Amino acid sequence: MNIGITEDNRKAISDKLQQLLADEFVLHTKTRNYHWNLVAANFTELHSFYEKQYDELADIVDEVAERIRMYGFISNGRLSDFQKLTQLPEQDYTTDAREQLSNLINDHEAIIRYLRECIEEFEDKHGDAGAADFVTGLAEQHLKMSWMLRSHVE
Ligand SMILES: [Fe+2]
Repeated sequence: MNIGITEDNRKAISDKLQQLLADEFVLHTKTRNYHWNLVAANFTELHSFYEKQYDELADIVDEVAERIRMYGFISNGRLSDFQKLTQLPEQDYTTDAREQLSNLINDHEAIIRYLRECIEEFEDKHGDAGAADFVTGLAEQHLKMSWMLRSHVE
């Protein structure tokens, strides 16, 4: 494989993406669980809102995993790997919308901070503007999702 990026750089980028994949998978699962376990006066609205968000997260999971394949590596897909790699905490179960929203906002923000790190590293350290652009797009998506979550909390 010769796409103008050394194997070491492709590997380093893929390793960063494996951690991102774990975080996206955990956040997808958490959002989906809140869709199930929600109890709120505005149940119908929030229930569908969560669904929209976990659908978007499912697409992101897919894009990140396939990007790792494009760099020539095996994408993680075992829950034990995701659990080992994720930086996101898994809280106790809750049906409380406020608590759910606050947990999700924190997770999106942690991912955004991690993506900022990736943008810089991919471009400056690994000479891959394409990968930097890819993660920039993801950061934009998470920024919008976290704004929408925040807008549900008075
Ligand atoms: Fe459902």
